[in-house]
Amino acid sequence: MGINILGMGCYLPEQTLKNDDFTRFVETNDEWIRTRTGIVERRMAGWEPVWYMGSKAAGNAIAKAGISPEDIGLIITTTATSDFHTPSMACMIQAETGAVNAAAFDMNAACSGFVYALDTARRFLETDENMKYALIVASEALSRFLDFEDRSSCILFGDGAAAMVIERSDKPFSSALRADGTGGRLLYARSVGVAEEIRVDTDFDDGFPEKRLHKLYQDGREVYKFATKALPKAFHLAADKAGIAPEDIDWFVPHQANVRIIETAAKNLGVSMDKFIVTLDHYGNTSSVSIPLALCESVEKGLIKRGQKLALIGFGAGLTYAGAVFEY
Ligand code: UT7
Repeated sequence: MGINILGMGCYLPEQTLKNDDFTRFVETNDEWIRTRTGIVERRMAGWEPVWYMGSKAAGNAIAKAGISPEDIGLIITTTATSDFHTPSMACMIQAETGAVNAAAFDMNAACSGFVYALDTARRFLETDENMKYALIVASEALSRFLDFEDRSSCILFGDGAAAMVIERSDKPFSSALRADGTGGRLLYARSVGVAEEIRVDTDFDDGFPEKRLHKLYQDGREVYKFATKALPKAFHLAADKAGIAPEDIDWFVPHQANVRIIETAAKNLGVSMDKFIVTLDHYGNTSSVSIPLALCESVEKGLIKRGQKLALIGFGAGLTYAGAVFEY
């Protein structure tokens, strides 16, 4: 059983940070950032909480879908940067959108989160015939966890939100969700309270390098190596079992981390870069938001059309990776 995408929406914070703005914090330059990552600018949440950006994106998706919020049976939200440990962001978005009949929970699979959530929502729709619509919302404010003294990571990320309303359909859908937890130490950020109480007070060694406690830490080169393999693997795991080859896909929508990672993945899949959606130049890496944001923008621009075959492929902290192949 597959899905129909009824509507998508996004929200982007007002503030834009250009590459040159980073020269105020670290020794870097526009040329290095452009050529090593493809990023030109990114949005940064200022006053906007993560749940607020998610609610705005959700409201836009519901309006596009033209449905009544009361008919939504499920809200799954994805974030690695929630404002609250509890309540969940999903519950806060439920209150804002008026989706009063929905189950609501958060999911954290880092940058693969949207593909994980989409597949999970599809499975709910498949097994509960009373559930009419599902709402998936990705919202992130990476900027609040960045170490602005670490030039190799702070220049990469951006903030924003994107959402999608789906219903069940008979169209084929093939997916694969995977993780390799042994790579957790390559990309992590501690919860603030835990960082202070366990690390500082008891000196407990959990094996994670002690960097700037709750700030995001990344071993860029190792994550890069993982990413270039994970993207093609996520595609093949999802597509091979459905007998779908790379050349059958109209659009690949990859996680937007670094254009060089996407170019290597395209080469390894034997597919032209013309078939890859790239939006990271304007938004940087927005974690779980990057795939739905790229999808939403490409649909709005008329690039992605009904009936075309899509491959969503993601990778991220955890480490996680995931692929979903279906018709728009
Ligand atoms: O969704 C999360 C997933 N994360 C990712 O996908 C990130 C994956 N990794 C990457 O995209 C890349 O590894 C980076 C963009 C993080 C780094 O690019 P790189 O080509 O792998 O650079 P590098 O780490 O090999 O560093 C090369 C040089 C170093 O200087 P030395 O040691 O050669 O003198 C760095 O210190 O570039 C230096 N460098 C910078 N220079 C100017 C690192 N960051 C910067 C910077 N500006 N912002």
